[in-house]
Amino acid sequence: MKINIIGAGLAGLSAALTLAENGIKSNLISVQQSERAQSVMAEGGINACLNTMGENDKIEYHYEDTLRGGVYLADPDAVRGLCEAAPGIVKKFASLGVPFEQNENGIIQRNFGGQKKKRTAYVKSSTGKMLMTALIDEVRKYEARGMVTRYPNHSLVRLIVKENRCFGAVVQNTYTKEILSLNGAVILATGGLNGLFEGMTTGTTQNTSDAAAMLFSQGVALSNLEMIQYHPTTIGIQGKRLLISEAARGEGGRLYILRSGKPWYFMEEKYPELKNLMPRDVVSAEMVTVSSLPECDDQVYLDMTGIEKSVWKTRLSDLREQCIHYISLDPAKKPIPVSPGIHYFMGGVWVDKNHRTSVRNLYAAGECACQYHGANRLGGNSLLGAVYGGQAAAKTVMNESKENDIKADRAEENTADVSPAFARKICEILYRSLPIVRNESDMNNALSELKALKNTAENQAEMNRANLALAVVQSAIERRETRGAHKRTDYPERDDDNFKKQTVARLQNGKVEITFKEIGEDLS
Ligand code: FUM
Repeated sequence: MKINIIGAGLAGLSAALTLAENGIKSNLISVQQSERAQSVMAEGGINACLNTMGENDKIEYHYEDTLRGGVYLADPDAVRGLCEAAPGIVKKFASLGVPFEQNENGIIQRNFGGQKKKRTAYVKSSTGKMLMTALIDEVRKYEARGMVTRYPNHSLVRLIVKENRCFGAVVQNTYTKEILSLNGAVILATGGLNGLFEGMTTGTTQNTSDAAAMLFSQGVALSNLEMIQYHPTTIGIQGKRLLISEAARGEGGRLYILRSGKPWYFMEEKYPELKNLMPRDVVSAEMVTVSSLPECDDQVYLDMTGIEKSVWKTRLSDLREQCIHYISLDPAKKPIPVSPGIHYFMGGVWVDKNHRTSVRNLYAAGECACQYHGANRLGGNSLLGAVYGGQAAAKTVMNESKENDIKADRAEENTADVSPAFARKICEILYRSLPIVRNESDMNNALSELKALKNTAENQAEMNRANLALAVVQSAIERRETRGAHKRTDYPERDDDNFKKQTVARLQNGKVEITFKEIGEDLS
């Protein structure tokens, strides 16, 4: 038996390692080398209740913070599994040589958004890079033994699906254009939907969203697509948003705006308990609110000038270097201007708590899947979710997958790309209609524009991209309430009676359909 893993970031590597440790071979297929996966860009840390900070932390508190942060849209059973596994995951990384900051009590943990205890283990603000380096090395040992076969520079052309069962994947070499059919179960680990908002996110432009668009066109159900996280502290630079890690606020950075000419530390005044470290959806929405007040300027600043020299040196040196390099400002000396930017997609491929998708023999993990984060992800839970999700998907596939009884067919493939003009138009429409605070009229206009654009699609990839964009907007329209990252001026209240449910998007006869399902319930 050989399993196909699409994506070689943290979730994909974690799945490959778990399979290999259990004697199961995998193909690891990725558009880029692991060293360039988006996981490398994750900064601030990974959450786990290690209880090394003398705060009497408990796994139960991590579980509660995650559910509350996600505004009760995440599957509690799945979240429990995540939080229970977290301490073991972080300790395993430490044993693999990840240089988490430590003292005599063990791994030091920092404050992060939406959490009532210090629970985020970190390596300065390069945690993702360090975890990836360790996993790449671990997986390499299994590559050398033939347990993992890498296909770098290969993109997913389509899945091989018959009667709602996945038999493999067709992939293409980016350089030679050679097409390969790979038999076996598939684990998707293709990352977030950055390509829908090209240049407007903190993530890599290499996550084009083409894989998700293609899966959707092949009948795979997607869920919670309206849940798009705006990280409060980003800065626009050439071609993307620069992330100023939440670690900056975890180590004492303060948000303020000038009100009648004087600094107003609005988060500290409005939220005395968690202050600048409220969950991201709350902080971003507050930044929008205060910057539209007549007595306030329109620019919010992050003031890190009070952070001690030793903290800059041991915990934030890379963040400081980034600011100096990209925006020519030294945050240790002067407040820096920040604004919210798209950072993470809580929605994605619908999976159950064992990472099964709506198609048998097809699994998904990491940011491409909709698990763990509900309506708003806590900082530090994405690296954890990717590692744990990869493990969980691998365990499920091991229990369920058998040798495939059909051979993958090898047909001529249509592999035309989405044109830059088409991608740009979609991005413009989505970015305009799905800001931090939305309304039905703008989203309805976006639907009309997307439908008109879909009629101009010149190939299947463009059709797929348009359908995915329609699914995002329709999901956002149908959720007529305010919850987590989905805030609406026309429905400003949370409505548990009608909407404590997941949106499910499917393509039926070429049309996007949105339904709601209970959390934790299977898809029929
Ligand atoms: O702000 C940050 O360092 C981001 C971390 C995360 O999204 O988990």
